[in-house]
Amino acid sequence: MVDTPIIETRKLTRLFKETRAVDALDLTIQPGELFGLVGPDGAGKTSTLRLLAGLLNITEGSASVAGYDLATQAETIKSKIGYMAQEFSLYAKLSVIENLLFFAELYDVNTNQQKERTEKLLSFAGLTEFKNRRALHLSGGMQKKLALACTLIHQPPILLLDEPTTGVDPVSRREFWNILTELHLEGTTILVSTPYMDEADRCSRVGLMYEGKLVKCAPPRQIRAEIKGELVEIHSDHWRDASDLISSLSGVLEIQTYGEALHILVDDGKKRLHQIKKALKKENISYQSARIAPTRMEEAFISLIRQMDGAN
Ligand SMILES: Nc1ncnc2c1ncn2[C@@H]1O[C@H](COP(=O)(O)OP(=O)(O)OP(=O)(O)O)[C@@H](O)[C@H]1O
Ligand SMILES: [Mg+2]
Repeated sequence: MVDTPIIETRKLTRLFKETRAVDALDLTIQPGELFGLVGPDGAGKTSTLRLLAGLLNITEGSASVAGYDLATQAETIKSKIGYMAQEFSLYAKLSVIENLLFFAELYDVNTNQQKERTEKLLSFAGLTEFKNRRALHLSGGMQKKLALACTLIHQPPILLLDEPTTGVDPVSRREFWNILTELHLEGTTILVSTPYMDEADRCSRVGLMYEGKLVKCAPPRQIRAEIKGELVEIHSDHWRDASDLISSLSGVLEIQTYGEALHILVDDGKKRLHQIKKALKKENISYQSARIAPTRMEEAFISLIRQMDGAN
């Protein structure tokens, strides 16, 4: 049985003068999905989320959220969603608890429930011991967790999160995602934009936006599997020389450096690994390891964007 979509856009379009920020977007999200929106800068991720949150007017097309029409029932939709903006959205001078209470008032959470909810969210976000600290004086990671806690105060079934972990250290990012995973397991529908491919990999489905359009939409496993080519990973202290040499070999599609590791996308892993080892040996370039590695979202993403750039 197929559920009724909880979010559905039909040819959703938003223009800013000549710019088609969102361009005839068809996006369907089922209840309970953890959906990752990725795409290069300016692809239209923020505009899409702001449209769905009722913060931007639609130019053309239509959308429904939680069964309500976005154009005519935006006020009803607001009670069903929690929206976290890409930029800082807290009250800097208010303390952690005051921010939570402010949002509780904003969303008409009744006074009896406020104490219980704020305590639960403080503990959920690991902020209990900082509850009297001003938002301004929290670390970046704590600010993001507080912003998420504020979007959860009215217990919305749908979360729209715009790059909620950008600029946050890896440990806080992981903690943040543990919270999202818990919410996902409780059945919350989450639409989250992210520049981090490891985060995209944690989603049940990923949509790639490019110039306002959704150019790919599939589970991460499928996106990784569809990538043309295989990945060869080389560790070498002489990675610059190795990179120069390898880039001239046939069958090499692209090379990325990660510290001293080279990630080489090739047409045929086994054949090219052999060829690369031979060439390195011939030029006396030593290496610690050379192996075929599993392709990751990062390679898939870069490869898809290259295809799109090439097609334009
Ligand atoms: N208020 C605005 N006025 C004019 N143009 C805008 C406005 N908001 C967005 N745009 C333009 O719309 C396009 C999409 O922008 P958007 O912010 O939605 O992209 P994004 O995918 O969120 O990018 P980023 O990854 O940098 O956050 C860009 O070309 C941007 O310059
Ligand atoms: Mg954005």
